Amino acid sequence: MNKQQTIVILSKRELEKMRKAGRLAAKLLQHLEPMVKPGVSTLELNNEAERWTQAHGAKSAPLGYKGYPKSICTSVNEVVCHGIPSAKQILKDGDIINIDVTLIVDGYHGDTSKTFFVGTPSPIAKKLVEVTKECCTRGIAQVKPGARIGDIGAAIQEYAEAQGFSVVRDFVGHGISNVFHTAPDIPHYGTRGKGRMLRPGMVFTIEPMINEGTWEVEILADGWTAVTRDRKLSAQFEHTVAVTEDGVEILTLPEEET
Ligand code: MF3
Ligand code: CO
Ligand code: CO
Repeated sequence: MNKQQTIVILSKRELEKMRKAGRLAAKLLQHLEPMVKPGVSTLELNNEAERWTQAHGAKSAPLGYKGYPKSICTSVNEVVCHGIPSAKQILKDGDIINIDVTLIVDGYHGDTSKTFFVGTPSPIAKKLVEVTKECCTRGIAQVKPGARIGDIGAAIQEYAEAQGFSVVRDFVGHGISNVFHTAPDIPHYGTRGKGRMLRPGMVFTIEPMINEGTWEVEILADGWTAVTRDRKLSAQFEHTVAVTEDGVEILTLPEEET
C-alpha cells in the first residue's frame, strides 16, 4: 500500500485552484461534444483535446500517467473505462462514448467525464445513459458535512439496481488535488452510515460506472481497456466535488454556479 491514506482538507487558496482546473476540464468536454459524430475516430477526439488543452495553458493529466499513452480516455459501448483513443476506432451511429478528461492547471487537477450518444441511441442505451447520469446526480446530492462516504454509494446503488442495472466495483471515485488519485476511495455501492465522515474542504470525484448486465469487468491485453465481462453496455458520468460548510460544490461545471 503506497497510496496516501490521509484525507487532505484543502485551503481556500487550493480550492480556488481546483475551481479553475475543474472549470477548464468542463469547458473541454463542452468543446469536444460537437465532434462526437459518426465517422470521427477516437484519436481525432484525443488530438483535439490535447491541442485545446495546450492552447489554454493546461496539461493533460492522463498522458504518461502510469504509462498511459494518450491525453483522454474514450470508452465506447462495452468499454467501462480507460479506453485508449485510436485511429482505427471510428464512431458509428448508435454508439455511446464516455469521454473522460483530466486537466492540470497551476498544479491542481480537474477530472470530469460524460457519456455521449453518437447519432441515435437504442432504447436500452438511452435508458442506461440517463440512469447513469441520475446516479451521478444522486451521489453528489448526498455530499455535506457529517454525511458518510457510504451514503454516496448507497444512493447510487439503490437507484441503479432499482432500474435493473449494476454498479461496477473495480473502479471507484477518488480524492484529488495536486495529486491525481489519492485518499479517500469513493465506492459507487455501499451502505448508508458507513465509511469516513465528510468534512468541509475535502475534494473528491464521484464517477459511477453503471452496466446493462453484469458488474464484472475484464482488462484487455493493452493493460488499460476495461470492458464488461458479458460485453453488454456500460456508461459513466464524473464530477469533481468539494464538501462546503453546508453542502457540496461541483467544481467541474463550465460556468460558476449561480
Ligand atoms: N480520469 C480517470 C479517472 O476518472 C483516470 C484516467 S487514468 C488514465 O480517474 F491513466 F487512464 F488516464
Ligand atoms: Co476521470
Ligand atoms: Co476520476
